Amino acid sequence: MVMEQPIVTAYDFNAPRQIIAGGGTFGKLPQLVKGLKGTNVLVVTDGYLWEQGLVREAISSLSEAGIKSVVFHRISPDPTMGSVLEGLALLRQHSCDAIVALGGGSPIDAAKAISILATNIGPLTRYAGYHQVPNPGMPLIAVPTTAGTGSEATRVAVITDELRQVKMMLFDNALLPDIALVDYRLSMTMPPQLTAYVGIDTLTHGLEAYVSKKRNPLSDPIALSCIGLVGQHLLRAYACPADHVAREGMAIAACQGGLAFSNSSVCLVHGMSRPLGAVYHLAHGLSNAILLPTVTRFSVAGCVARYATAARTMGIAAPELTDIEAADALVYELEAMNRQLNVPRLRDCIGVSRTTFEQSVSKMAADALASGSPQNNPVVPTMSEIEQLYLSCW
Ligand SMILES: [Fe+2]
Repeated sequence: MVMEQPIVTAYDFNAPRQIIAGGGTFGKLPQLVKGLKGTNVLVVTDGYLWEQGLVREAISSLSEAGIKSVVFHRISPDPTMGSVLEGLALLRQHSCDAIVALGGGSPIDAAKAISILATNIGPLTRYAGYHQVPNPGMPLIAVPTTAGTGSEATRVAVITDELRQVKMMLFDNALLPDIALVDYRLSMTMPPQLTAYVGIDTLTHGLEAYVSKKRNPLSDPIALSCIGLVGQHLLRAYACPADHVAREGMAIAACQGGLAFSNSSVCLVHGMSRPLGAVYHLAHGLSNAILLPTVTRFSVAGCVARYATAARTMGIAAPELTDIEAADALVYELEAMNRQLNVPRLRDCIGVSRTTFEQSVSKMAADALASGSPQNNPVVPTMSEIEQLYLSCW
């Protein structure tokens, strides 16, 4: 007889039921919708993609397979509660029974929120925070077209509450897409600057998942693989947008980054990035990119060995370097990458004076702390340290 032992530690890994990756896999969409018993699909996308051929391609392939569809394309960057409700109304009006999210993090996050509101009573604010969603969402296939947020593989959605000017985070297994369909070819036309920003978002996911206080042995190898792939492919994807190998590397890295942080957590960079997005409407990848070197320099002392491993995995630290030297090399590399990728300073992109910015840092620092993410950081900052970090990025 086996004696029952108390559980000392428990690791939990949650992922989409199926992840399909590779060039050309987008063609499987109708068959995957059918596999989820979908007959009438709400396609959630954004205005830019709506004007491109991709959405039409999706609709006609669904139609040829006998699947009805309706498109909701009024998703802005930083999706709002208002746009989620608009999408939900369309879903109900057309009695849709499945959702396909096509786009970057914004359409995918909005689709996740629509999916849970289709099967749970609103308002959405009721489900903010951790594990608040009672019922599984409507069947959802997430098809990323940017190699960045990794939202196709996470149980997280970030939706802006327009009234309170905050980015509300929802975290629940009900937000996991049923299927992540990762066809790197859909990212080939991304402009270089978007490639840069979402690529740094991916790197931030890998790094924060790897050094987080909530890290675990199941997500560690995936986080490291994400970090290594970004080191190998991001600059190439930026300089040579048509490079299939680099694009595929970044698409896989993005998906892995999502898997890693969804099962570990993000930390201070994301904690500080969301208020910057909410107040100054900076794109998520851009605000992360601005913050990453400064916040990493602040955080290194709390987790030197892991930052050193990250540097070695990226191939930017010679084997003879000590951990402290390798971790330093990582900070210098992040600064160098920002220069190579033409990432601006805050003063160059938020459109307000230094004085106005200074007046906003205390609300942003309070919102950052309230999100809980800074508490996962290797060095847990005080409110005034967060204020200082914002000012350092000016
Ligand atoms: Fe992110």
